[in-house]
Amino acid sequence: MSLLEVHDLHASVNGEPILRNLSLRVETGEIHAIMGPNGSGKSTLANVLAGRPGYEVTAGQVSFNGAGLTGLEPEARAQAGLFLAFQYPVEIPGLSNMEFLKAAWDSHRAAQGAQPESAVSFMKRARALAKSLELNPEFLKRGVNEGFSGGEKKRNEILQLLLLEPKLAVLDETDSGLDIDALQTVAAGINRFCSADTGVLLITHYQRLLNHIVPDRVHVLSEGRIVASGDRHLAEKLEAEGYAWLSD
Ligand SMILES: Nc1ncnc2c1ncn2[C@@H]1O[C@H](COP(=O)(O)OP(=O)(O)OP(=O)(O)O)[C@@H](O)[C@H]1O
Ligand SMILES: [Mg+2]
Repeated sequence: MSLLEVHDLHASVNGEPILRNLSLRVETGEIHAIMGPNGSGKSTLANVLAGRPGYEVTAGQVSFNGAGLTGLEPEARAQAGLFLAFQYPVEIPGLSNMEFLKAAWDSHRAAQGAQPESAVSFMKRARALAKSLELNPEFLKRGVNEGFSGGEKKRNEILQLLLLEPKLAVLDETDSGLDIDALQTVAAGINRFCSADTGVLLITHYQRLLNHIVPDRVHVLSEGRIVASGDRHLAEKLEAEGYAWLSD
């Protein structure tokens, strides 16, 4: 059974058609990279999958783990194991990062009929993971992303990913704004998430991330549709030649 199956998806944002005829299948254990020019619909796809309000599926089907996804609220999708790392993570001043992460994790557990993890055990896990991402554990006490640098926000997204243990991670330009060392740290975090039971949709502009995280498939989005798919060598060709050859 596929982890994610998108079949002939058409979607609009605030009434504006953006995605057209988009089909994609991610099996467990697979990493798919989504590339494509600015404005081609990559974040729209991510938002449609996550169920962001204002994003409407006008035709086609999306199933996740064998069940229809489109009618579900964003929180039900998250509880089913879908995770979105934002291209532009939002700041939530006044809500501590630790409280936010613990509340998210507890609600996941509650959805599975499990008791909340003890605060001590959760904090220990969060601190260890933060350290592994070279994020000072003091950041757990700050407001969610409040005053974080661009790269710190991206590392915080991966901290969330590793703490919440979803099945499918949709990572929207998690590599953007990272310095050279941070790129490696974040890539190691993503690789740590990858297993035979999980899948990743990795939205990126740059081949350099794919040197660290080897994709099984690479897709190119253009004007809301997939115009090319291939193995990792497609990303190398794009890096060398750009996108123009695809429209020849
Ligand atoms: N709320 C909105 N209302 C109208 N159009 C929108 C809205 N949100 C996105 N769009 C349009 O949808 C198209 C796709 O945008 P999207 O953010 O998905 O692109 P992207 O591929 O993620 O680009 P980038 O590489 O710059 O992040 C763009 O033309 C954008 O202007
Ligand atoms: Mg985008």
